[in-house]
Parts: sequence; structure tokens; C-alpha cells
Amino acid sequence: MDYNKIIEDIYTKVLREENKGQRAQYIPELAKVNPDRFGIHLMTIDNQGYGIGDYQKPFSIQSIAKVLTLTLLYRRIGSRVWQRVGVEPSGNAFNSLMQLENENGVPRNPFINAGAIVISDMILSEFENPKQQFLDLVRDILDDDTIDFCEAVASSESSVGFRNIALCNYLKSLGNIRNNTAEVLDFYFNICSLKMTCKDLSKAFLYLANSEFKTRKSERVLSLSQAKRVNAIMQTCGFYDESGEFTFRVGLPGKSGVGGGVIAVHPGKYCIAVWSPRLNIHGNSYRGMKFLEQFTTDTKLSIF
Ligand code: DON
Repeated sequence: MDYNKIIEDIYTKVLREENKGQRAQYIPELAKVNPDRFGIHLMTIDNQGYGIGDYQKPFSIQSIAKVLTLTLLYRRIGSRVWQRVGVEPSGNAFNSLMQLENENGVPRNPFINAGAIVISDMILSEFENPKQQFLDLVRDILDDDTIDFCEAVASSESSVGFRNIALCNYLKSLGNIRNNTAEVLDFYFNICSLKMTCKDLSKAFLYLANSEFKTRKSERVLSLSQAKRVNAIMQTCGFYDESGEFTFRVGLPGKSGVGGGVIAVHPGKYCIAVWSPRLNIHGNSYRGMKFLEQFTTDTKLSIF
């Protein structure tokens, strides 16, 4: 498969077309990013990398980090995770409060904000030094100690994060938050601010394409069965109320973030990261979706 040529051809085609959508306006730091950045990086499970455009520029991975926090907790406590968060698509926006009351404060899945906030609370209960231990896992996966949070983005979101503050307080009132809400939200805003390039991101998710993947400490990240389950949740919930559309158009498990990043995983083959900050109305990267649809069409590689 000539990944270089396919990626280059699609990049050139998408770049020529109109770039639609808006940056994430509700987080002031993200609304300042150059909206026409566009980068792609693919990493195969045997470590062959292919990149084009702004693939070496760091950006805020936002909700993509929710897969990494789920991973941190899942490898520590196993299936106990599912006692406090479900595995069903929500059919609602990522920051919706609607289902929580009817469903007794158990969020539908770990990728909507409510679910990721409950996961954050569970991490606070299970780890001595949660922010550091989260960073340690990501740094061990990437073998790179420069990976870090972005203080400016975390404090920017924290200063206006009223909906997440509401979600966290509401979850607390329904008994599904055990720790201090300010500490839970501090952890949550920090993990969302994690900075990576497309090149980093495509490597960071290899453990989901190849469950034999080992960190620099020679540890597996998840078991085969756990990786299957995380991929399944990405497939059904990774794009919120656009998860069906992503599955229909792209046909791979994936996850988006409001920084404009998208990661898609082809189990047994590769991970591909796309970054383009303009988002559609569901909060998913306009060009990210477009690029990946064309990519799985041209390569004829999807899981379906
Ligand atoms: O909590 C928020 O609203 C953001 N920190 C993350 C949301 C997000 O990335 C949704 N993804 N498309």
C-alpha cells in the first residue's frame, strides 16, 4: 500500500476545497488557533510513519485524552469501571446534561463529558498523584518526557467551564462523584489540555491497533480483550451524536476533540491522526472527517 501517495493526494484535494466550520469558540485559547492548520500522520503497527502538512505542530487534543484516562483507569481496576459509567451511545451532544437525571447520574459512556468527569473522579480515588501518573503513562507509551499539559488552555477552559462545573455538581448531587468537585474538574481540564502533534497522537494510540504494543517500561498497556472493548466504545461513542455518521463514512473506531484533532484506529494495521481546527456543528473536525472518509475509501481499508 503506497500510504505516502494516497495521503498526499487526499491532502492536496481536501486543501483545494472550502474549509467549513468554526474553531471551538467556548474555550478562548482554542478560538485563537490558526483555523486553517491541517496535518496528518499515519503510523503502522510496525512503526512506519507517513506525515504531511502541519503534522509536527502541537495542538490541544481535548476529548481525545478521554481515551487515555479511560485506559489509565481500566488497566488499574479492570471491569469495575463499568459500575459507574455505561457503554451505550448517548445520541446527545458531548456536553449534554439531559440523560443524567433519568439515568440516576450514571453517564451513558466514558467519552461524553459527564462520563469523562466520572472517570476523572475514579482516577482521583485510585491514584496518589493523578496528574503525574497520567502523564507518566502517556510519556511511557510515547517514550517522550516532553509531553505535557498546556497551562494556558486548562486555565482558559476552567475560567469559562460552567457547563462542566454544572455537570460535575449535578453528578455529585446524584452520588456519582466521590471527591471534591474542584479537584475533579482541575484534573479533567488538565487532561483535556494535553498537547500533542499528529505524529505523537498516531503513535500514542498504537496500543489499540496492536495489543502486543509495549511501553518503554516493557509493559503492555491493555490486554487484548480490554483493547477490543475500548475500540468498541470509540466505534459507537467516539463522535457523540455523530458516531453513527463517522462509522458510516469512515468505518473505523476513532475519537475526536474540540481542538480539531481526530484519531482513527485500524486494529492490526495502523493509527491515523488528522488535525484541522474548524469544527462542524457536532464539535468534530470538518476536514478530519472528510480526510478520513476519503482515506478509507481510497485504501479500501476499514473494519467493515
Ligand atoms: O469539556 C470540554 O468541553 C472540552 N474540554 C472537551 C470537549 C471535546 O473535545 C469534545 N469533542 N469533540
